[in-house]
Amino acid sequence: MRNVLQSSCADPDGSLSRRLGDTRQLTFDLAAPLSDADATIQPFPDASPAKWHLAHTTWFFETFVLRDHVLGYTPFDERYGFLFNSYYEAEGPRHARPRRGMLSRPSLDEVRSYRAHVDEALERALRHLSSEALDLIELGINHEQQHQELFLTDILATFAENPLEPAYGESTPPACFAIEAVSWQVGREGIVEIGANESSFAFDSERPRHRVFLAGHEVANRRVTNKEWREFIEDGGYRTPALWLSDGWAWVQQESISAPLYWRDEGTEFTLAGRCEIDWAAPVAHVSFYEADAFARWAGGRLPTEAEWEDFAASVDPMIGNQLDAAGPALPRPGGGVFGDVWEWTQSAFASYPGFSPAEGAVGEYNGKFMSGQLVLKGASCATPRGHGRASYRNFFGPGARWQFTGVRLARDA
Ligand SMILES: [Fe+2]
Repeated sequence: MRNVLQSSCADPDGSLSRRLGDTRQLTFDLAAPLSDADATIQPFPDASPAKWHLAHTTWFFETFVLRDHVLGYTPFDERYGFLFNSYYEAEGPRHARPRRGMLSRPSLDEVRSYRAHVDEALERALRHLSSEALDLIELGINHEQQHQELFLTDILATFAENPLEPAYGESTPPACFAIEAVSWQVGREGIVEIGANESSFAFDSERPRHRVFLAGHEVANRRVTNKEWREFIEDGGYRTPALWLSDGWAWVQQESISAPLYWRDEGTEFTLAGRCEIDWAAPVAHVSFYEADAFARWAGGRLPTEAEWEDFAASVDPMIGNQLDAAGPALPRPGGGVFGDVWEWTQSAFASYPGFSPAEGAVGEYNGKFMSGQLVLKGASCATPRGHGRASYRNFFGPGARWQFTGVRLARDA
């Protein structure tokens, strides 16, 4: 549907407008410490330049809301569709992903002007939008929040490339907390329900809520710590093929992997605050699925399935949504919460739930077409924006990815 302006009593209490404004402002603020050069670098093909995140999230609103639902909207620059479309085949050809770091133009300031143009048009349009367009605003807010997390992890990867070890910002290291011995919570056995219900926003891949069978199992009450990861290394974990999946062992050899991604010499790690001492009691972060799986085997356990994780989380705290909200970009370093400072790898493939149907139109490409070769991660991380996490959330990455704040919670058969 294009160029149709419909009147309705949209957003009567103004809450959508406020959340839209807050989300757009946070992205703008995240870029404040960066120079144009900082914002242009693409450290590797799967990570995007900061400037691209700012522009692409804007393109999403401009295309799917303003172009398609606001009569007479004039695009900021017709050429930006080619530059800032990420992967939407229905939107036509686009700039190659691995070459996003070649875009020295438009400048960071021009991208800021693009954002302002679209923000003003959205604000003007909001009270006249149809419910279909308002749903796309909601999707756009959640989409931009996902990119806020990627913005931080991609800028961490960018600065990690620089021998000057620049800091993105000051962060107060999390308060030290004692490492408790792991205790194991007995999980429910039998048929349980997982997935999002219809009462609030969720991505299409979280639905429909459905029944699954859980065999007898137990889940650890906390994540694996840096100290335990050091023990795995000292015990030869990265040099013992019997601990690894075949693909994982090939990956360790090929990439010369011997520690979490940002660990450096003498007990230090690279963080968004520059190089810091490793907090041995904090949850390990920046490990791949392959590493998580090998660690679990070494420790005599296994990774939880996504259904075990979701049922466990709901049993620990039925208000898990609030727990996850305790995280946020204000603390870009894992701390000591029960949930929400590192994403937790599961052994479950990112696949459709029974009855899954992607949305109609181009936004139907959002999740469904990535259901191949990826694993589900549950929880949230210290870089996840406040209000974005929930128990049914299904993050997903390939088995070798580790530039996100990804960690490990163990499970075992009962
Ligand atoms: Fe995107």
